[in-house]
This record gives sequence, structure tokens and C-alpha cells, in this order.
Amino acid sequence: MNQFDKILILDFGSQYTQLIARRVREFKVYSEIFPFNHPMEKIKNYNPKGIILSGGPSSIYEKNAPIISEELVFLKIPILGICYGMQILVNLFNGKIIKAPKREYGFAELILKKEREIFEGISRKSRVWMSHGDYITKLPANFSVLGYTANTPYAAIGDISKKIFALQFHPEVIHTTEGKKILKNFIFKICNCKANWKISSFIEDTIKSIREKTHNKKVLCALSGGVDSSVVALLIHKAIGKNLTCIFVDNGLLRLNEPEKVNRIFRKNFDMNLISIDAKKQFLKQLKGITDPERKRKIIGNEFIKIFEAEAKKIREAEFLAQGTLYPDVIESVSFKGPSATIKSHHNVGGLPEKMNLKLIEPLKELFKDEVRIIGRKIGLPEEICMRQPFPGPGLAVRITGEITEERIRILQLADDILVGEIKKADLYKKLWQSFAVLLSVKTVGVMGDERSYENVIAIRAVTSQDGMTADWAKLPYRLLNTISGRIINEVKGVNRVVYDISSKPPSTIEWE
Ligand code: XMP
Repeated sequence: MNQFDKILILDFGSQYTQLIARRVREFKVYSEIFPFNHPMEKIKNYNPKGIILSGGPSSIYEKNAPIISEELVFLKIPILGICYGMQILVNLFNGKIIKAPKREYGFAELILKKEREIFEGISRKSRVWMSHGDYITKLPANFSVLGYTANTPYAAIGDISKKIFALQFHPEVIHTTEGKKILKNFIFKICNCKANWKISSFIEDTIKSIREKTHNKKVLCALSGGVDSSVVALLIHKAIGKNLTCIFVDNGLLRLNEPEKVNRIFRKNFDMNLISIDAKKQFLKQLKGITDPERKRKIIGNEFIKIFEAEAKKIREAEFLAQGTLYPDVIESVSFKGPSATIKSHHNVGGLPEKMNLKLIEPLKELFKDEVRIIGRKIGLPEEICMRQPFPGPGLAVRITGEITEERIRILQLADDILVGEIKKADLYKKLWQSFAVLLSVKTVGVMGDERSYENVIAIRAVTSQDGMTADWAKLPYRLLNTISGRIINEVKGVNRVVYDISSKPPSTIEWE
């Protein structure tokens, strides 16, 4: 990665840290997140053109509050402190901070003293997003006020000669109307970065390095048909062709016509070595009578590993296993370990490489999801895969409460297909993080014609989210809900009621199980 200009983000636990990295990358400048206490030697060797200190939930005078070492300033690299990052800088240079009687949360109007440096080209008055408890009462020496709001006299400050800037508000969130421009100024005018992080060069470099790393040896890849594993498979296929073997396990818990689609795209279109295993019966047998969500997840995870391992053993000279690990999975920080990590056991191929003595290849591990989608498009993956919403490893099993039977899977597949089709027709599919149907384990009474019915309930789940860690229920138009409900009840035998899930995460989760 050394050929790119880089911005380093030190993370103090803000929920927005990832967003800062994504914003920087949107300007074609490479950006990585390290924990706030990352060793100084490593920061030096990383050689960033600029450093951003994120916000965080701490209070600077608290016992064990995270801080930075003075040495960071000695590196003479431009620094931008955001929110808690601002307080760290103020504290480091002997300014003063006190606890506000009331937390300031929401919009404020930023008024600039001078529209230059980091604020060049920015309107004198603009809307910013505040979210902080503490505030500054005394500026450090050499710092000057660059902007203020009605409640915050030191909303933007800087030591211009040292190229150190600090903002009390969050430029990375969309609510700060000029936020992108402020970050852009920091990256290009203050840090002098070049916009040289290009997806196309990433693709070329990755293909080259996969070739070098695997050196004519065989690679295995568990292909699920989701965005990440599909992009990994195709990238590696481009690099080493038939030395890659993909294994696709049809566990019977996939969406309608999914196995056919995967086979068509990867075997027919791309002529890949694809082993497709029909394990429907096996999974159903193991899941018979199981209603506990965690047990379902464990059974499916174990069964998958068993099948994958058995198939993989047949590929004798396999030395590598490719995985679609993304950047958010590897960032070393407490703030990204979302509650789902501990609340639900996730199903993936983790543990397989050690067990099978395979070396790992993770070509996407420096990327965010939206970047993976762009790569997918560039290497010719069909749009229907690139734009896919996330789908959980245990598949429809965690969208069927109660027992899983062939009939109940079928009901859910048909209802889900209608729901997703209508969402796509309404041009909302890409705007939603996820939208899917859930089959409930209660039956309710209805009336069809003159007949009493006692049938299943389908719940519609549709959420918006940045990363799946928190989510809002989507405010789908009533007309669309009406169409979906009408079609499901009319077209899917065995369903006589449709309900809409209006819970956000937290406290609910996105998947029902
Ligand atoms: P929850 O339900 O915990 O889901 O709010 C958060 C996100 O994770 C996805 N999810 C999974 N993804 N394996 C996966 O690869 C899993 O076992 C799994 N469980 C949930 C879920 O679809 C949502 O996007």
C-alpha cells in the first residue's frame, strides 16, 4: 500500500469512526483506522500524510481516559481532532475543558471567523452536527478560534503554524452540511494528499499479488452467492483461473431459485470450477424439531463445515482458502464489535483454515462494503449480485421462528420473493439495508370467501442502516405495503395475515433469530 498517500485515523471509540475513513476514501485517498494506543513506532512507519483523531464516549479528565502521546505532535504531521479528539489536543497543549451542565446534541449554526485554511470555500454560516458533553473554556497557547456557535465559543480552533486543527462538531456526518468540504480541505490543502487511491489499481495489484502468493497452487473458496464471496471468487478466478475451485453448498435455506442463479452465473457465465452440493436433506434432517435460534445457528454452522471439509479434501493439492473478510471485520477496536457479535453466533468459515491446514487469502480485507460493490461491477459481476442486500449465513432458518420444515421454507421463499420483487419495482431495494419476509410460528384466524381459515403470519422486515450495527425500521409507503400484503395473501398458499415490523435496532435485532 506504500504507493498511496494515506490518512491515519486514531479511534477513540466513536460510532462515527468508520464513517470518517469512508469519507476520506471517497476522495480517493487511502485511509485506515488504528486504535488510539497504536504504537508510535508503527504510526511513524505507516507514514501517513495526516492524522485524524476520532470522537469518543470518554471524558478527558476521567480516570483512564484514552489520550495520545506528545510524540504524535513531534512527527510534524498535520492533525485534525474531532469532538473528543479535539479535547485530547486541548488537554495536550494545556488548555482547559469542563463538563457541560447539559449535553449538546443536535444541529447548531457554525459561524466562521475566517473562511480559509481548513475552511476555505466554506460559507460563513453553515449547519453543523454537535454531540458532546464537555466543552473548552480556555484555549491552549498558539491556538486561535476559527469558528463558533451560539453555545460553543470554541467550535473550531487551530494552531495554523503546526497544522493542527480541532472541531467540536462532526464533519463526517451528513447533517454537517459543509462537512465533506472541511474534510476535503484538511486532506488536500493541509495534508497535501494526492487523490491516488484508485479502485482500478487496487484490482490490478490484488490480481498480481494473488498470483504471486499462490504460486500455481490450488485455492478453495466457499461461494455463497452474496456480494463478498462472489467478488473474492471472481477476483481470484481472474488471477489464477482453474486453479481456483469454488464450493457452493445448497443448504435448502436459500432464497427462491438461488442455487440455480449461482450456478448459472459462475459456472456458465464465468466458466469457473464450481462444485455445487445439494445438501438440502442433510440440513433439514439435522434441524428437525429444533426451535431454539442458537441451536439452529450452531447446527447449520457445524453442518456447513462438515460438508465443506469433506468436499475440500477431495481437492488434493489445495493450499489456500479464500475468504471475503471485509475491513470492518478486522478493525481492531472496541467500538466496532457490535452487539450482534455476542448476541447471535455468526456462521462463517472461521476455524476452517486451521483445521484443514490451509493458508488464508483475504483480498478484500482493506475494503468497505461499498468499495467491494464497485470492484464487483468493474470486474464484470452482474448487477443483481453487486447490489445484493446482506443475507445471513444460516439463511432462512433465522427468518422462520419455530420449526423448520420443507413446507415452511417454501412458504417463506415465495412470500420473500414477492416482497423483494415489489421493493425492487418501487426502486427502494438499494436504499434499504435489508428487506425480507419472516415466517412466524403462530397461526391466526382469517376469512377467505365465506370460509374460516387458520393460517400462517408473514412479517415484513425492512430497515435502513449504515453498517448493520444499528438500524431504523424503514418507513415504506402504505401503498407499497398494501401491494405486498395483498399479493402475499393472495398468492402464497398457507398465509392469511401480513404484519409490519416497526422495531429499530437496538433494542431489536435485524434478523428475528
Ligand atoms: P442482527 O440480526 O444481529 O444482524 O441485527 C446484523 C446483520 O448481520 C447479518 N447476520 C449475519 N450475517 N452470518 C452472517 O454472515 C450470520 O450468522 C448472521 N446473522 C445476522 C444480518 O443479516 C444483518 O445484516
